[in-house]
Amino acid sequence: MIYNMRNPKLRGLHMQYNFDERRERKGTGSVKWEYLQTGKDPEKWVGRAEYPGRDCILPMWVADMDFPSPMPVVEALKDRASHGIFGYTVPGESYYRAVTEWFGRRQNWQIDPKWICVTPGVVPALNMLVRTFTSPGDRVLIQRPVYYPFFSAIENNGCSIENNPLLYDNNRYSMDFNDLEMKTRDSAVKLAILRSPHNPVGRVWTEEELNRFGDICLGNNVLIVSDEIHGDLTYRGSRFIPFSGMSEQFRENSIICTAPSKTFNLAGLQTSNIIIPNEEYRKRFKKTLHSNGIFGISLFGQTALEAAYTRGEEWLKQVMEYIEKNLDYLKDFVSRNLRGIEVVPPEGTYLVWLDCRGLSLDKWELKKIMLEKAGVYFDEGFIFGPEGEGFERINIACPRGILSEALERIEKVLE
Ligand SMILES: Cc1ncc(COP(=O)(O)O)c(C=O)c1O
Repeated sequence: MIYNMRNPKLRGLHMQYNFDERRERKGTGSVKWEYLQTGKDPEKWVGRAEYPGRDCILPMWVADMDFPSPMPVVEALKDRASHGIFGYTVPGESYYRAVTEWFGRRQNWQIDPKWICVTPGVVPALNMLVRTFTSPGDRVLIQRPVYYPFFSAIENNGCSIENNPLLYDNNRYSMDFNDLEMKTRDSAVKLAILRSPHNPVGRVWTEEELNRFGDICLGNNVLIVSDEIHGDLTYRGSRFIPFSGMSEQFRENSIICTAPSKTFNLAGLQTSNIIIPNEEYRKRFKKTLHSNGIFGISLFGQTALEAAYTRGEEWLKQVMEYIEKNLDYLKDFVSRNLRGIEVVPPEGTYLVWLDCRGLSLDKWELKKIMLEKAGVYFDEGFIFGPEGEGFERINIACPRGILSEALERIEKVLE
């Protein structure tokens, strides 16, 4: 963006961030801090005041962080805001360069700028991708328990869900390839949505797993949409592999959803990039975008993305170190104090899947204990599909003080 190029703000590049600070988010319209899901329909929210416990409930559900974004992003937004003119603005050459260099440098994935389609969020894009690449009556494969907006993206467009449930054994999830082979043989299955890394179970798929998944879909003419929005968020010892970069065949048979929103806590700016190397698919998707009147993204989203991808790396390093310490704290606390609950160790994402089946509670009793008795608000496992019953998803991208308070509240109630 020319305005930013003339005013490069480098402040904040080497600063030490303080992630322990608890910054008030109430009164900002925060979905996480001011709303609760209704439970029966995870996509409907109600104001917190309608729930018992009200303001004292600690929200650790929806996937955003309770940390301010990198200082260079905040500075770039202030700088752009001070210009005062916010007319129609399209992503320029520096925007595309920021995206391609980020993925080249971080994931060793070479993207041609012309493959990039900008969209105002991954969930809207998923809905439009299903609409573009299926016809009503087709089936779309997903791997439950999984991020629940996938369900409506499929059903909103007249398709039905083909579930290839993940296997859970010994505190670890894996893919069921025999079932995948069988399900994708059905010619009604046109599309498969891969979650990589997987939300909520936290797996970062290995090269072997991705190869098998990709080969089976390719062999059965199933197009893959890989949602890689959490791809930058991995823990020590795990390596994220961008699906499209694995081979030319996979590249031509896949569409990749990316965004800086999880990585840099920018969800409210609604900016994402859908990478479509196959020219024919790209044309079809752009046609759908245009038929919905979508020709670009917000100018503040563009500004934030450029600053984050070019000057946010130090913040990302520090925030992941902090979140990993939260994870260690959580594992230690749960194993010492919360009998009946087990942490399913994640390899990526800041969302942690807790196996609460040892408490022997049904799903509504579990919700009641957590929300009404302990006053902690997690995403109940069952909203990710029936396979998630007895589990809870906790968001640990928060100051450690919030995490420890939440865990202590649960400990007290379980006593
Ligand atoms: C797997 C996955 N995809 C997409 C999204 C949301 O993307 P967006 O805010 O860009 O619509 C999330 C947010 O939690 C997510 O976990």
